[in-house]
Formats: sequence, C-alpha cells, structure tokens
Amino acid sequence: MRRTLLLLSGIVLVAGAAAIAGLAGPPSPPPPPPIPVGPLIAPLTGADLARFTRGRDLFNKDFRIGEGVGPVFNADSCRACHQDPFLGGAGGVDVQVQRPAISDGEGGFMPPPETGGLAQTHAIPGVAREEIPDTVVFVERRNSPTLLGLGRVEQITEAAIIANEDLTDADEDGIFGIAHRLPGGGVGRLGWRANVPNLLAFVRDAMGNEMGITVPATANPFGILDDVDGALDPELSNEEIDDVVFFLQQLDFVALGAANATTLQGSQLFEQIGCATCHTPVLDGVELYSNLLLHDVQPDDFVGITQGQATEGLYRTAPLRGLRDTAPYFHDGRSDTIEQAVRRHDGEARTVREAFEALTPAEQAALLAFLESL
Ligand code: HEC
Ligand code: HEC
Repeated sequence: MRRTLLLLSGIVLVAGAAAIAGLAGPPSPPPPPPIPVGPLIAPLTGADLARFTRGRDLFNKDFRIGEGVGPVFNADSCRACHQDPFLGGAGGVDVQVQRPAISDGEGGFMPPPETGGLAQTHAIPGVAREEIPDTVVFVERRNSPTLLGLGRVEQITEAAIIANEDLTDADEDGIFGIAHRLPGGGVGRLGWRANVPNLLAFVRDAMGNEMGITVPATANPFGILDDVDGALDPELSNEEIDDVVFFLQQLDFVALGAANATTLQGSQLFEQIGCATCHTPVLDGVELYSNLLLHDVQPDDFVGITQGQATEGLYRTAPLRGLRDTAPYFHDGRSDTIEQAVRRHDGEARTVREAFEALTPAEQAALLAFLESL
C-alpha cells in the first residue's frame, strides 16, 4: 500500500504565515519521522553513519520557502516521490512528472519555451503556476522509479555497458541496443532514457527540476545554479549534495524473494523466450536485469520527446529488481500490473512478446511469478 504523501506540508505552514517568498517564516517544523530505510549495502559506523544520517535527513526533509524551494516545483521533498517500500523507493501515479511537447516543425517534438523540459505542478505564493500552453501536442508522463540499489548500478563499468551494444543488429535478431553517449563524454545510465551518468549528477538535477533548489557552480553540467525565489543561491552546499549522494549509494536492493520450482521455471522461460537479451540478468556482477542500453519497445504510432541521443521511442531497458514494489510500470506509469507491462512490449521486443503470448497459461504464470520474486 502506498503511504499518504506528506507533500507540501511545509509549504502550507509557511504560506499562512508569510505570503511573500523570501520572508523568514516561523522556525522550521521538526522533520517528519523518516520512513524506514531498507537494507544497506554494508553496515555503517562512526563518520560514515553520521554522513548517511545527514544525507537521509536532507532526502526526507520538507524544504520550505526561504530555504530555497521554488519558484516552481513538483514537490518539496525527495521523499514525496521516492518512498515505496522504503525511503528512496518508488513513487505512485499521484506524483508523476510532466514533460510537455510542441512540434519542432520538422516532424519531431521539443519542449515548449514557456515551461522548458518539465512543467512543474506547483509554485510558491506570488509566482504563476506553469500552465501547459495551448501549442502543446502531448504531455509525456514520467513515473518515479525506485532508487534502491543505484550505488551498485554506479559500480558497473562503462565497458560492460558498451560491450552489449548492437548498433546495426549484427546478429539479426531484430534487437539493437545503444549506449547513451553524453555530450560531455561518458555513457549515461540513470533516468528512463539513461541520460544522466551518475548519482551526483542526478541529485543536482533533481534538486533543481523537482524542488527548485539551486546548487553550486562546479564542472558538473547538471543542476540549476540560480533562481528567483528570495533565497540566496546556491540554496544547497556541495557538502550537503555529497551527503545525499552518499545516503543513496548505501541503499541496497530489496532482497530477492525465495526461489521455488515455479520461479525457477519462470527464470528459465525468461532466458529462453529472449527477455534476457535486454534484461541482462547479471551486468558486471550486479543482478540488475537490465543492459542499461536504449531500446525502442514502443508501438509504431508512439510519440515521444527526444532527450539527447534517446530519440522518440528509445528508453533504457528498465531494471527489473524490486518490481513487486514499484507499480505502476513503464516510463509513463500507464501499466498497472507487471503482466500489462510485459504484454505492452512492441517494436524491437515484438517477437519476444509474441513468444510470451505463445506460452501456456501455466508457463506465463511461472514467468510472472519469477518477475514478482525479483
Ligand atoms: C515529483 C516527483 C519527484 C521528486 C520530488 C523527486 N524525484 Fe527523483 N525521479 C522522479 C522521476 C519521475 C524520475 C524519472 C525521471 C526520468 O527519467 O524522466 C526520477 C528519477 C530519479 C533518479 C534516477 C533513478 C534511476 O533509476 O535512474 C534519481 C537518482 C532521483 N530521481 C533522485 C531524486 C532526488 C535526490 C530527489 C530530491 C532532490 C528526487 N529524486 C526528487 C520523480 C521525482
Ligand atoms: C528489446 C529489448 C527488450 C526485450 C526483449 C524485453 N524488454 Fe522489457 N523493457 C524494455 C524497455 C526498453 C523497457 C522500458 C520501456 C518504457 O519504459 O517505455 C522495458 C520494461 C519492462 C518492464 C517494466 C519495468 C518497469 O519498472 O516499469 C517489465 C516488467 C519488463 N520490461 C519485462 C520484460 C519481459 C518479461 C520480457 C520478455 C517477455 C521483456 N521485458 C523483454 C526492453 C525489453
């Protein structure tokens, strides 16, 4: 079950007390009791534990006006969208992020200048909320993924990702596979379109795009450096950002469910019918069920906004660890169940999906039981 969101609790308090952004509000309310943290990669003591706790408290904190939230934002805490089944986990449909698109005049789509890439759903008092302009052709919804295990995902080498690329479908199985090469060099691995290289970059990016929290100028190209909300920029220090990164690096995957005859059969079918071609069970020692490459598994009539090298239908093979806790599924969260997500594969995965459909009901059930155990 999803927990009730504590979204905006801090904002409501401040809005009543001081309607103008930048006025110091009443003293900060105590942070909400943290949602439990799941398994850690290794036990922590001493300075590491202190750093972890600082990072956890920042991730869990309801940022207030005057502390830098806004001028426009989606939520006032990281926790609001990342909390199932533990702090740092996935988020529900109620906190999806919206990416509006207008025509680029050449048959493709781009973000409208009025909102930029994201249309944030909230604004601080005195600032107009971002409206979706009339020129928008469609709004791409983005589901909040789990962050559990990303410390392990960071350890996977770029060479291991690139090794599985198949740019020309050399083996003629209808399945390609593109590593998302970033403009500044390196390979992306985080985000639905693998357009972000690591946790440091994503934390900087999410602080700005989701909460309106500005970050210090460094060589890192991610993050928003200044904004107009009455709080002094940067609204977070490099040390605080590093603490959040350290916190996330310690969070492990939820343990695999117990294997039994049915899940073992399911895992064999997963390999046999070709799911494992993209959902690589073990990548560079990490049991992730993803090759971290971009694939087009969308139907022919799909429309999407290009992000870097990820043109229209290209999304990162979604890692399948923790699946049982992270409904809904697919980048847009439009699949409520794991089965719907499997049946929705098209494009490069059409043949594999047809192989799933051709299984007997008992075999399909075994494969789904296996997915539920990840
Ligand atoms: C309003 C909801 C929302 C809030 C608030 C939010 N996120 Fe996210 N988060 C998302 C969504 C949606 C994605 C997927 C983004 C994409 O790829 O389009 C995501 C993705 C991520 C990822 C990459 C996950 C992966 O598997 O690749 C990280 C890391 C992350 N968020 C960290 C944070 C941190 C740190 C904060 C607080 C500063 C935060 N998020 C706040 C919705 C949110
Ligand atoms: C050609 C590569 C490819 C093949 C083959 C493939 N998938 Fe996927 N899978 C993807 C991509 C890419 C996504 C993310 C799509 C999106 O979000 O739009 C995905 C998403 C998923 C999801 C949703 C995960 C989430 O967190 O939202 C599940 C479940 C899944 N695949 C299971 C399977 C199963 C089971 C098979 C075999 C029947 C399979 N996939 C075959 C590439 C593939």
